[in-house]
Amino acid sequence: MNYPVWEVPIIGSQLVIAIIAIFHVLISHFAIGGGLYLPYAEMLAARRGDREWRAVIKKHSKFFLILTGVFGTVTGVGIWFSIGLANPEATSTLIHYFVFAWAMEWVIFLVELTTIAIYYYTWDRVSDALHIAIGWLYGIVAWLTLVLINGILCFMLTPGTTWLAVAGSGQEIHVFWHAFFNPTYWPSLLIRTLICICLGGVFALVTASRIDGAAQPRLKTDLIRWSARWLVPTFILLPFAGAWYLWQVPAVQRHILELGFSTIGQGVFSVVTRMSLTLVLSVATLLVIVYLLAYRNPLDFKLGAAITIVVLAQAAIMSTEMVREMLRKPFVITQHMFSNGVRLREVAADNTAGYLARSPWVRAAERTAWAALDAQGTAATNAPDYKPQMLARGELMFRGQCMACHTMNGYRAMRTLLAGRDHAGLGNLLKLLHENKDDSPYHAFMPPLVGTTNEIAALNLYLDTLAAPAK
Ligand code: HEC
Repeated sequence: MNYPVWEVPIIGSQLVIAIIAIFHVLISHFAIGGGLYLPYAEMLAARRGDREWRAVIKKHSKFFLILTGVFGTVTGVGIWFSIGLANPEATSTLIHYFVFAWAMEWVIFLVELTTIAIYYYTWDRVSDALHIAIGWLYGIVAWLTLVLINGILCFMLTPGTTWLAVAGSGQEIHVFWHAFFNPTYWPSLLIRTLICICLGGVFALVTASRIDGAAQPRLKTDLIRWSARWLVPTFILLPFAGAWYLWQVPAVQRHILELGFSTIGQGVFSVVTRMSLTLVLSVATLLVIVYLLAYRNPLDFKLGAAITIVVLAQAAIMSTEMVREMLRKPFVITQHMFSNGVRLREVAADNTAGYLARSPWVRAAERTAWAALDAQGTAATNAPDYKPQMLARGELMFRGQCMACHTMNGYRAMRTLLAGRDHAGLGNLLKLLHENKDDSPYHAFMPPLVGTTNEIAALNLYLDTLAAPAK
């Protein structure tokens, strides 16, 4: 509430993050997997004295440099910008608790970019052994960025009981390592590392698909088979890593996933269910395509098929990320902060003192007017400035508590979701949201509505104006 609300028409602020993330997740994992693939392949090529293969790897490294160095970086900064605007309270919290982790991340990132540039520009200028060593250095440094960021990402889903016990007390720094190596840290690091390795092979297939099979049949066959085999360990280990990960997620959050599955029988496909099915289907199709099109018929393997594999891998990764995001709902930091920036421990105080009591967005004159209306009790409804004052108040409630997830007319459109509800109906909805009982239908995906009775009445009046058909 200390920050302004970033209002993005139609798509909403959360989707902006999602759209940038679609590209960033793919490229950033590839940046690591490719970093392991390139020096390993170069090493084998050198050992076999295969200059043809080496030439392909060199070409691949150019594609790699441009994709990761340009698009990876730009989308990475884009994520920073968008999360800072869309979830300022949570971003600020993460920066406060993990300031040294972020600082290390930036330094390592700089080293990563420098080494990959050196790797690319020293082909044929330094000895093979030195060049391969630079490649390995890049691979390790790139992986270290994951080692760091993984701690912060996992913290949001599973901050862990040790950290939660001291959250907000000013003593958080003493449990830094608990927060960093939180319950999902290791399984998540394993999953992400496997995904990286897999993507290294997937993109190698893209490069290999462009080799002219008629001119260089041996090379094309060798490379495609080798890159396809590169994917095997990932597919064997991923299901185990996934199970380990879910096992570390607290049952309350996992419940969201189970809810998604148990409703399939009733014909209800929740987002979680759809995402999980997408994951299974895309991985299965991916395996079939890699085996039939790449492994069995390497010479006929064309760019189109390679791109299909990239798209399927992307679908699998995005659905995994979506499920991870869903598991956290309605929190941005589980059991600590809701997606709209309200902290769990502040709920009770906000309900008695008022959600807007601390808000810097209320003018002094408004504060006085609202206090005067509140003092009049029910008689206030007859005051001439009652309606306009309450609407202004309700709008601030709405912007602060609802707009983090809803837009007016686009994604999760408020006007559509509210359409046809009258004043009393909306009052009931707000009551459910405010009480936030365990069996409330909204409990699993919407935060509790906080505020005094009068603030909620103000929100009710404001929502009336949204529910009414637009004139
Ligand atoms: C953490 C994100 C989040 C916040 C914050 C949030 N909502 Fe929602 N809301 C959702 C999701 C997710 C749905 C389900 C959307 C769908 O079905 O398309 C939803 C659905 C709704 C619906 C439709 C419910 C139904 O019975 O069909 C209404 C009405 C609604 N929200 C109102 C609000 C109001 C009012 C606020 C602010 C007090 C709010 N929401 C805050 C995430 C949120």
